[in-house]
Amino acid sequence: MTLLKQLGLADTNSGTYLGNGEWSTTTDAGVIESINPTSNELIARVHATSTADYETVMARAQAAFAQWRTTPAPRRGEAIRLCAEALRRHKDALGSLVALEMGKSKAEGDGEVQEMIDIGDFAVGLSRQLYGLTMHSERPGHRMYEQWHPLGLVGIISAFNFPVAVWAWNSFIAAVCGDISVWKPSPRTPLTAVASMKICNEALRAGGFPDIFFLINDAGTDLAQAFVDDHRVALVSFTGSTRVGRIVGERVARRMGRSLLELGGNNAIIVDESADLKLAIPAIVFGAVGTAGQRCTTTRRLFVHESIYEDVLAKLVAAYQQVEKRIGDPTDPANLMGPLNSRDAVAAYLAAVEKAKALGGNVETGGAAIDRPGNFVLPTLITGLTNDAEVVQTETFAPILYVMKFSQLDEAIALQNAVPQGLSSSIFTQNLKAAEAFLSAAGSDCGIANVNIGTSGAEIGGAFGGEKETGGGRESGSDAWRAYMRRQTNTINYSDALPLAQGIKFDL
Ligand code: UN1
Repeated sequence: MTLLKQLGLADTNSGTYLGNGEWSTTTDAGVIESINPTSNELIARVHATSTADYETVMARAQAAFAQWRTTPAPRRGEAIRLCAEALRRHKDALGSLVALEMGKSKAEGDGEVQEMIDIGDFAVGLSRQLYGLTMHSERPGHRMYEQWHPLGLVGIISAFNFPVAVWAWNSFIAAVCGDISVWKPSPRTPLTAVASMKICNEALRAGGFPDIFFLINDAGTDLAQAFVDDHRVALVSFTGSTRVGRIVGERVARRMGRSLLELGGNNAIIVDESADLKLAIPAIVFGAVGTAGQRCTTTRRLFVHESIYEDVLAKLVAAYQQVEKRIGDPTDPANLMGPLNSRDAVAAYLAAVEKAKALGGNVETGGAAIDRPGNFVLPTLITGLTNDAEVVQTETFAPILYVMKFSQLDEAIALQNAVPQGLSSSIFTQNLKAAEAFLSAAGSDCGIANVNIGTSGAEIGGAFGGEKETGGGRESGSDAWRAYMRRQTNTINYSDALPLAQGIKFDL
């Protein structure tokens, strides 16, 4: 296929980047099949990483760190500038591969590569801004300050739904912080990972930079477990389900490592009686059906003021029926929605619809798989359930939106918070008091809270992540870089005396 060739991929590929420009030739550690969710046909194969190759990667990554940590940070930024430039050149092809292998629309695939470019640009600027504080010492002739040092190896375990951007959020920031990244992508999206590594590592080599990015792939879960338990990995950044994230967090904590967890969401939009529906309706539809409901920031619950409930519901049903006409091959830019990523995801979608019906829910539109090859389902609106219904409390990674009504804003905010997850949230209102109440300390309990925009599509400049069962981690912009560095507090005495802190006397 020409797209694969364009990105340096073949029918069978190595899934292990060993450093020094070498890809492993091991073929007996298992094979990962990249399956096209539009047809359930094979796109290409990727060989998994053997234990011996894993050891080579880790040894080379450690050696690389010994060099990279003393490379000046602005010089490290130059390395990432070259990666972002290379991604600009490959945006169209890599965006198409994301659409082909993951199943999101071409526009969203391109958008994901744009997110890599954006975080690259952010990281370049950040490389001159890794600031620490200075403090006033209580002792005369003393100076206190803090500095931020590189942490070591960063293990990145990413999910299928953002197969390339999440790696860039982590690895580009880690790189300017002086760390070396080892990436284990989702077994559902190994090709986009190999392609991203090729693009960036070739740019680094051409620019005379050493290896700062390594890649491993696991056909099962043994290698992933060893990776999580590996003392050489200073920080494990994990994106995925709450179930697996809990295991990762516990294992890393047991060895006193650091973890950064980006887990499930159960995101809600509140639409109050003053809302501008010209903004609210498209935001709700994009939030709920974008990426076929497979973003951790997908809108899964909607609370509508009772006075406009019927009107909003009718408008949503009409909009969903427009989307239905544009479901299909995601690589065709005319389509708004592609397939779910796997057959299992279709089964989970159907099971959630059945459960909702059994609990008394009404399917207003959708609710079925589409009779064609691939993992296509209809975007679905369900009414008649309360927020505490088990199926509403659960994150089903599919385009199902539960629509509920409310009468008082306080009640809506309490309902929006009454789930185990705490990632993203938003309110549509033209009422300043309602907006500020939603954003206040007594408002949304999520890591992300928006006004008059939807729950998904966060920009890279802010810190991304959420509270409660979402895991508490923050990635991407703002000061999220601090998770990738270690802080050192330094006190320097330039006087001729040795006064002790807290006025303690210790006269010899
Ligand atoms: C994810 O779903 O794992 O805010 C990340 C968004 C994207 C990132 C989502 N910028 O929807």
